[in-house]
Amino acid sequence: MSLQPIKVEDYFTPETFQRMKAFADQQETPFVMIDLNTISRAYDDLIAGFPFANVFYAVKANPAVELIDLLRDKGSNFDIASIYELDKVMSRGVGPERISYGNTIKKSKDIRYFYDKGVRLFATDSESDLRNIAKAAPGSRIYVRILTEGATTADWPLSRKFGCQTDMAMDLLILARDLGLVPYGISFHVGSQQRDIGAWDAAIAKVKVIFERLKEEDGITLKMINMGGGFPANYIAKTNDLETYSREITRFLKEDFGDELPEIILEPGRSLIANAGILVSEVVLVSRKSRTAVERWVFTDVGKFSGLIETMDESIKFPIHTDKQGEMEEVVIAGPTCDSADIMYEHYKYGLPLNLSSGDRMYWLSTGAYTTSYSAVEFNGFPPLKSYYL
Ligand SMILES: Cc1ncc(COP(=O)(O)O)c(C=O)c1O
Repeated sequence: MSLQPIKVEDYFTPETFQRMKAFADQQETPFVMIDLNTISRAYDDLIAGFPFANVFYAVKANPAVELIDLLRDKGSNFDIASIYELDKVMSRGVGPERISYGNTIKKSKDIRYFYDKGVRLFATDSESDLRNIAKAAPGSRIYVRILTEGATTADWPLSRKFGCQTDMAMDLLILARDLGLVPYGISFHVGSQQRDIGAWDAAIAKVKVIFERLKEEDGITLKMINMGGGFPANYIAKTNDLETYSREITRFLKEDFGDELPEIILEPGRSLIANAGILVSEVVLVSRKSRTAVERWVFTDVGKFSGLIETMDESIKFPIHTDKQGEMEEVVIAGPTCDSADIMYEHYKYGLPLNLSSGDRMYWLSTGAYTTSYSAVEFNGFPPLKSYYL
């Protein structure tokens, strides 16, 4: 329950917020605006925390060319999920040596497409995919994604659909060698917005076992650990800061691998860009379901199908600011479409001011990641979420 108004200064400096708001005043809602300086700083902070790592930006978090260009110029590499992302990133002048095909679910012809473009780094977690890679991308470097714990402590878990057990990961890396590929490393993703830093400890310990056993039993020397994403953005429920994550994760790595670390890859999405975004919506209606109902419903012009899908199961709780002040009361917050799934928050009760009314603006903070790219094309006729890059 959050009946207190959020403090904007917990999320943005007053200058940045005022600057973004002044821009917002000129636009029709709904839209998201993204502050590129904030992303640039987040990238620098990540590099400062993990100076030994190579960053592969997870393009799925927000594929806008403005972000690709910024991160390209800052030296980032790119984690790519599809041929469409590949074309987009390469059209911005990123070479194939800076690209990893990180999706474990891919068509043979798409693997070939990546290979023809020059990409030589592929993720896998199954034998059939590995055999496809051996045929369509001969000689490439392979990393195998393993299953991880931590689903209950991540706001947006990724642990069941991707990855395989340790034993299978070893089998796949041996098979990779036998198929003429390069068994290169191991990847994992502890779940997005992972609150428990210990999740990395458990995953790194598994990786260590695989490195050692493959070396001792099969003469295979792996070179790389891809630690995925999972680093935190700034939502309502607080997490440790990035410095604590990087300090602890570095300690886990050194405990298991000593000072001579293998190549370390990070694939941040959320933590790099979420904090840079403000989604601006307008209240369409405020209503009650009966004369005596205590609860108000606030309907706004953006919803699950126009950028806020991560409110599914109320997983991500975005901080919401309005300019109205005064007494707060519990609300249900819902979107504008004729779909009853289009309710963002009902169980977690947000408080919004009692005097909030049609036409008032709602500022959804920390919405730079997984909003535009998740927005439906024409559901109920509504266009996809607009975005502006400042
Ligand atoms: C393979 C892979 N890497 C990285 C990410 C980014 O994770 P996060 O947004 O938690 O940083 C994702 C997110 O789905 C992913 O699937």
